[in-house]
Amino acid sequence: MSDHVKDEAVAQQAEHASLAQRAAEHRRAGEPAAETEPIFEARDVTVFYGDHRAVTDISVKLRKNQITALIGPSGCGKSTFIRCLNRMNDLIPTARVEGQIIYHEQNLYDSKIDPVQVRKRIGMVFQKPNPFPKSIYDNIAFGPRVMGMKGDMDEIVEGALKRAALWDDVKDRLKTNAFGMSGGQQQRLCIARALATEPDVLLMDEPCSALDPISTGRIEDLMLELKKNYSIVIVTHNMQQAARVSDMTAFFTVELDAGEKHRTGRVVEYAATDKIFTNPDDKRTEDYVTGKVG
Ligand SMILES: Nc1ncnc2c1ncn2[C@@H]1O[C@H](COP(=O)(O)OP(=O)(O)O)[C@@H](O)[C@H]1O
Ligand SMILES: [Mg+2]
Repeated sequence: MSDHVKDEAVAQQAEHASLAQRAAEHRRAGEPAAETEPIFEARDVTVFYGDHRAVTDISVKLRKNQITALIGPSGCGKSTFIRCLNRMNDLIPTARVEGQIIYHEQNLYDSKIDPVQVRKRIGMVFQKPNPFPKSIYDNIAFGPRVMGMKGDMDEIVEGALKRAALWDDVKDRLKTNAFGMSGGQQQRLCIARALATEPDVLLMDEPCSALDPISTGRIEDLMLELKKNYSIVIVTHNMQQAARVSDMTAFFTVELDAGEKHRTGRVVEYAATDKIFTNPDDKRTEDYVTGKVG
């Protein structure tokens, strides 16, 4: 190894170590990452699209009041897995989920469970902010109205906007179209919309990929605030983000199957974020978090 390459590797390691340290400080400032009760327990979850096994044998426990990050290269099944957690894959005709997902001690895929109720309790936010072409107020009120939620709608809307740290930005223009907001505000509106139906879990699939660094920082601060009352699962491409906000990290890879026909994703390592970023057990995790492989 040349000195230059060595220096770079050392510098990279130092950067990651200090990153993890900052993350730990950040986390300590929020809530302790104690062994809280599990909200979800995935047991040998495998998802097929048609006959393609997209992810296989995922067994993880996701805990209350924690932020769990799902990281790994493109195509390893992060979105596929996070969609299992609120039965969004039900909406994809070719998708089939095997194994079990236990949510509050109930099998999420039990025939008695109503997927619409599930999506009310388990909110989801996507990569691109996707407000409805309606007023800010009606974006928030939509879910509660559809669900027939009781209570004063003005209060429901105000409460959701406050929890998403958006109230002060928009309280004087609630009746204006949501498309007039900045990208970062639109994403916080989508978070507020998800919170309006009183979920206990927030799933976020690359929620900051389309945002600038300042808006990203706001969403990260918001996540740290929200985890006091909610459990959050975030898919992120941004490893600094995972290190900054999450308590637990699951690292996925994607490898060819024995017939070398299909690529299948799996969880290589699931552990406390500090461990994943500073002292992982698996060489593949280390190579990924130190940037040796994309
Ligand atoms: N709706 C779908 N129909 C068929 N295959 C899909 C669908 N969504 C994802 N896949 C496949 O499943 C695998 C995992 O994809 P995805 O979950 O999107 O990965 P990631 O989010 O980690 O990039 C990929 O091979 C992808 O092509
Ligand atoms: Mg994805």
